[in-house]
Amino acid sequence: MPVLNVTLWEAKETMKDTLTRDEAWALIQEYGSTENHIRHMLAVEAAMRAYARYFGEDEELWGAIGLVHDFDYDRFPDEHPYAGGRILREKGYSDEIVNAVLAHGETGVPRDTRLAKALYAVDELTGLLVAVTLVRPSKDIREVELSSVRKKWKDRAFAAAVNREEIERAAEALGVELWEHVGIVLEAMKGVATEIGLDGQAGR
Ligand SMILES: [Fe+2]
Ligand SMILES: [Fe+2]
Repeated sequence: MPVLNVTLWEAKETMKDTLTRDEAWALIQEYGSTENHIRHMLAVEAAMRAYARYFGEDEELWGAIGLVHDFDYDRFPDEHPYAGGRILREKGYSDEIVNAVLAHGETGVPRDTRLAKALYAVDELTGLLVAVTLVRPSKDIREVELSSVRKKWKDRAFAAAVNREEIERAAEALGVELWEHVGIVLEAMKGVATEIGLDGQAGR
């Protein structure tokens, strides 16, 4: 089957196995994400960059996946993240990239790479950390300590929509102790406090 072999080989050659930050931004612009959602994606980007450093992985790629992961949400809320996965596939991105994006939702796509596990583990947690910051008068994430997150973690009425058990399972699957995980994501978000609107400006 020489013809088929050549076709497969060519398809592999043209497959994009990396995604740059610029490409992620271009997708966000093209599909028109809201400001709030962009802030969420920037928080996830920062957390993914931190985890790439932690694991010695490709920081540019992991950051770009974090940045892009919800780009389809505002345009296709009912098809998220399937629409995003389809668009990325059409643009020629590799299975690792497409599947990581698909696997952050409840799509049944297995989280069988460290990239996919990390994305899933940080996504929901960033929401809780935003909520913990916004109940403070200062609304400055740089003042949030792990101990205040612990307190809110136990207070199930606080940000009740955030599924603590899911975050616990996701951290375990990633192989990081829960409170180390929370610390890594919190520190990463502090590093982009201004970009994600949690530098205290909203509290003034
Ligand atoms: Fe999502
Ligand atoms: Fe998300």
